[in-house]
Amino acid sequence: MRFSTTSLIPLSVVGLAQAAHHQVTVGKGGELKFVPEVVKAQKHDTITYTFFAKNHSVAQSSFDKPCQPIDGAIFSGFVPNDSQDVASRTTFTIVVEDDRPIWLYCSQSTGDHCQKGMVHAINPPETGNTIEAYKEKAKDAPKSTSPHDGLPQVGRREIAVDVGKGGLKFDPDNIIEPVGTYVKFSFSPKNHSVVQSTFDKPCQFQEHGFSSGHIPTKEGTVSPATFNLQIKDSKPIWFYCAQPNGNHCQSGMVGSINAPTEGNTLAAFVNKAKTAPTPSTIDPSAPLGGIILVNGKEVKTFNGNELPAEFREDSNPSTTASATHSMPPAASQTLPAWGSPEVPDYFADKAGGHKPKHWNWADKLSPSASGFLQLHLQIENLITHLLWEAYLKLETVGEWKGVYPQTIVDAIGAWAAQSVLHSATTSTVMDHYEIKPFGGCKWKLPLDDGVVGFLEAWNSLNLVQIGALIDISAQIAKEDPFLVPVLLTQAGAKSRAAGVVNMMRGHLASVSPREIGVPVPLVWSYVLGNYVDSCPEEVKVEGLDKAWPGAKVANVEAGEDGVVTRVEVEYEGSGEHWVAWIGPWGELEYAKVEGGKKVGVPKGWTGDVFVVVVDKEGLGLGELAGHVVAGPEQVWL
Ligand SMILES: *[C@@H]1O[C@H](CO)[C@@H](O)[C@H](O)[C@H]1NC(C)=O
Ligand SMILES: *[C@@H]1O[C@H](CO)[C@@H](O)[C@H](O)[C@H]1NC(C)=O
Ligand SMILES: *[C@@H]1O[C@H](CO)[C@@H](O)[C@H](O)[C@H]1NC(C)=O
Repeated sequence: MRFSTTSLIPLSVVGLAQAAHHQVTVGKGGELKFVPEVVKAQKHDTITYTFFAKNHSVAQSSFDKPCQPIDGAIFSGFVPNDSQDVASRTTFTIVVEDDRPIWLYCSQSTGDHCQKGMVHAINPPETGNTIEAYKEKAKDAPKSTSPHDGLPQVGRREIAVDVGKGGLKFDPDNIIEPVGTYVKFSFSPKNHSVVQSTFDKPCQFQEHGFSSGHIPTKEGTVSPATFNLQIKDSKPIWFYCAQPNGNHCQSGMVGSINAPTEGNTLAAFVNKAKTAPTPSTIDPSAPLGGIILVNGKEVKTFNGNELPAEFREDSNPSTTASATHSMPPAASQTLPAWGSPEVPDYFADKAGGHKPKHWNWADKLSPSASGFLQLHLQIENLITHLLWEAYLKLETVGEWKGVYPQTIVDAIGAWAAQSVLHSATTSTVMDHYEIKPFGGCKWKLPLDDGVVGFLEAWNSLNLVQIGALIDISAQIAKEDPFLVPVLLTQAGAKSRAAGVVNMMRGHLASVSPREIGVPVPLVWSYVLGNYVDSCPEEVKVEGLDKAWPGAKVANVEAGEDGVVTRVEVEYEGSGEHWVAWIGPWGELEYAKVEGGKKVGVPKGWTGDVFVVVVDKEGLGLGELAGHVVAGPEQVWL
């Protein structure tokens, strides 16, 4: 599979825009049924489940083990509801990632829903493993179980809340939902908001809390804008409408998420709000802590805290229907354009913060720094695409679903986001000095062979980028010192990622990666040789435009203690050659290439290191590039 840097950008936007939306009812009319029982869906289609009496769920099993969950696979959580014919405000939406069969069941064990035939399938075969065969198997299945934490996963669980519909109130005002659920607020007239407070200080904006801003809504309509936030933990959350005209909050327009049933209850909060000081307060900027969507598009900033007039009325009412169920977060977010210094809020939130704010700009940037940044940007872009693609495969209903626990999937998503931030930081520097980024290269992403190929690529790219950051920092320290902290904080972030990658690779010293400074020309050669399909003509920096022939390390010889003592280096060429071993802490040692291209390993070296075949020994790191015969190659000792 090949990607250009631009081919990924329309991935979700275009793909999802053309996708079909399917609706499935769960338990409607009091029946233990999914209707329709079978959905035929294509890649990128979405399926939304709506829930009726009694207390159902959507859970994924294998064909062979109905009524039992697959670890890390689709689960909606339970949705209790009394009504047989009014759907719950809570829905669950999944995105279909391919046309393979997906087997689903209701995991309610009280009343044996699954065994009684409450099963469902997406793209089941018409012969062999059919839906009938699955249902038949379910009859004799052991007691149903659900994923142990009971939380929704691999799909978007969402509850719809009305703001100001039929009076000064939130409906529902006492939201009880599991962690991970999205809350979608829709606004009725007049001019309402959803703002977070503490329990103790109702009607007062809580520092670092969320705020939708004021959403003025035309009489007789519902605003096209919705405010969306995700429940991140099980602590109670308190909110209010901050409209001071008419004292909405003090009049009872407050609500809660997961409020206790005793002590600090919602009723106690309503009482407290009655005597809260006026006027209610709101942060001067919005939106905060959540996302405003207008017809499915995000409105990032209001330039103040009032929704701008152009978004208040629905310019295209026919599109609102399809915008009412939003996509799961990962699939609906697109990577910023190539070379963009902008970081979408979604990525900044996921990365744990935005770009640096204080730059200490120097008057000018040295030409060598400029060249280094161009290459750094290319490599970072490659890493972003690798991580983001893998994250989509793991997070949504992709072919890698369930391979890793959710915490690891989340961590990979966070590192993808951080990589976006790192690219944008470099682009900001280039922007400041009016250096136009070269066009983006087309990458070869090793994602077709499962997670192992991904993991190895992530490991080596992470290491070479750390290597490059160290080398660049050392080389520019004199002329462009202001850049050093910017680059080395990136190295720090990548080093933490390297610890996790090592853990996932099952290594002993898992969280103690050691950083290796690899000269930038070698790093770029490595990237060109292994991950580049093609680059625009302009991607040439003097001395940095070469991919040396590859070197492969094979036939490892180890001593009795398992420590590697000799390796065989396969490369084209003959003559008197040495292998330069590049290790952590600036270590550099030489070993002569012997007959059969055997090479000794420096004593005591372990972990990830790099080798490069050179035609001279005793060179310094900075002199290596002038003497490369083959490589570099990464080796695990
Ligand atoms: C719904 O069912 C689940 C699983 O049996 C149970 O844990 C939960 O308490 C039920 N909720 C209600 C409100 O009955
Ligand atoms: C069931 O859904 C209806 C419609 O949204 C809602 O009014 C009702 O409160 C729900 N019942 C439960 C027990 O959640
Ligand atoms: C909405 O309410 C805010 C706060 O009172 C106010 O500043 C703003 O002018 C109102 N907007 C409209 C259109 O009424």
